[in-house]
Amino acid sequence: MIKYYKVITYGCQMNVHESEKLSGMLESLEYINTEKIEKADIIVFNTCTIRAGAVDKAFGNIGALKKLKKRKPELIIAVGGCMTQNKEDAIRLKKTFPFVDIIFGTHNLHKFKQYVIDYRLKNERILNIWDNEKGVPNMTEINRTSGLNAWVNIMYGCNNFCSYCIVPYVRGRERSRDLNELIDECKQLVKGGYKSITLLGQNVNSYGNNLEDTSVNFANLLKQVAQIEGDFKVKFMTSHPKDLTDEVIDVIASQPRVSKAVHLPVQSGSNAVLEAMNRGYTIEHYKETAKKIKEKIENVALSSDFIVGFPGETEDDFEATKKLVKETEFDVIFAYMYSVRSGTKASEMTNQIDFEIKNRRVNELLAVQKSVSKINRQKIVGKELGVLVEKFIGGKLNTKTDGGRLVIVKGKKDLVGTYIKVKVLKIENKKTIGKII
Ligand code: SAH
Ligand code: SF4
Ligand code: F3S
Repeated sequence: MIKYYKVITYGCQMNVHESEKLSGMLESLEYINTEKIEKADIIVFNTCTIRAGAVDKAFGNIGALKKLKKRKPELIIAVGGCMTQNKEDAIRLKKTFPFVDIIFGTHNLHKFKQYVIDYRLKNERILNIWDNEKGVPNMTEINRTSGLNAWVNIMYGCNNFCSYCIVPYVRGRERSRDLNELIDECKQLVKGGYKSITLLGQNVNSYGNNLEDTSVNFANLLKQVAQIEGDFKVKFMTSHPKDLTDEVIDVIASQPRVSKAVHLPVQSGSNAVLEAMNRGYTIEHYKETAKKIKEKIENVALSSDFIVGFPGETEDDFEATKKLVKETEFDVIFAYMYSVRSGTKASEMTNQIDFEIKNRRVNELLAVQKSVSKINRQKIVGKELGVLVEKFIGGKLNTKTDGGRLVIVKGKKDLVGTYIKVKVLKIENKKTIGKII
């Protein structure tokens, strides 16, 4: 009898990619993917704990399966990822939802297949969370689902300990993958027809720091990937402003196969807040880096993340953040209300900010960006850009710029999946219209 699986993913690209690995393991056990929860024989939640909201969402959705499990006792429910790696949440999960059959963490994700086999044999609940990382597992069973793009993990973990952030606690210390292994994987992906490769790490700029060969760094990895022969582009995320070197900026600027998009989270426009966040750079340094990026990389799309309402953030600090957004002209920003994560340094700070203030600030910041992008959007008109053709709809082609902006052009269906050059003609009802050149 055919058996079906469904993987439900929360959180960042790292998790999206790890869900491809979970799916790969399930497919090797002959499960088939289904979109319908009711049809699934195994449901896996790949969770996130970056903010309290992510945890509440996962608990809510797991809890909602209680009835289904009652109706269908042979259904296997598994929960893994960053949330379960947090002991408190794993224990709460175990107690409140006795119908969850398998609970695993981030460090033993590669063992998931074995847990499913064991559970099917013994029908006994499995709770197995490794305390820390044990090397870098090379996982080959990957069911890639992101269309033209393939994700590649270049490193795991993080050493930065930004005072608000739970990632170093649930993902462990930084471990980089071997350079040659990565180049081989990327070559295979290009051969396999992928049009974009996204290199993933919490701080890609510190790639290689823990490797024996001290000549290995992110700039030369990026360059080597960009020099693989083929019709593709390489992207990466995320960059930490304290570690982004001139060498990396030069590689992005000079290599045609490197996407001209940089996501460089700044978090705040105030030096006092940046220091309390333990970010390791000043706002002057950030502005200098942003300026270099814009000067050296033609038509670059710069994006950023912000946290508002960090403990002790004053109105003046927040004004400095708004000023930064007004002046920098980011393509896109992501703004979050600070969320207390237990175990982090910032959770012990006594000057926490009220929800109402955080809520007002996040809306104000997004409003500033909205007015900036309204003006910015026009600046694309007249530009000639390299875009990837993603879809053919209603006689027209949907193409994407390196920064992810949609440009609609007239063209033939057989161009889907190729890189073409377009000229942007106009913005009409918020849609960007261009023509092939
Ligand atoms: N490693 C990456 C991304 C980490 S998580 C980096 O350093 O840039 C993605 C974003 O979530 C962060 O950039 C930050 O803006 C936000 N974030 C992290 N912890 C948070 C918290 N406790 N509350 C609110 N937002 C948070
Ligand atoms: Fe978290 Fe900072 Fe590491 Fe990013 S760099 S994952 S924000 S600790
Ligand atoms: Fe990503 Fe969330 Fe974990 S943002 S690293 S899935 S805590």
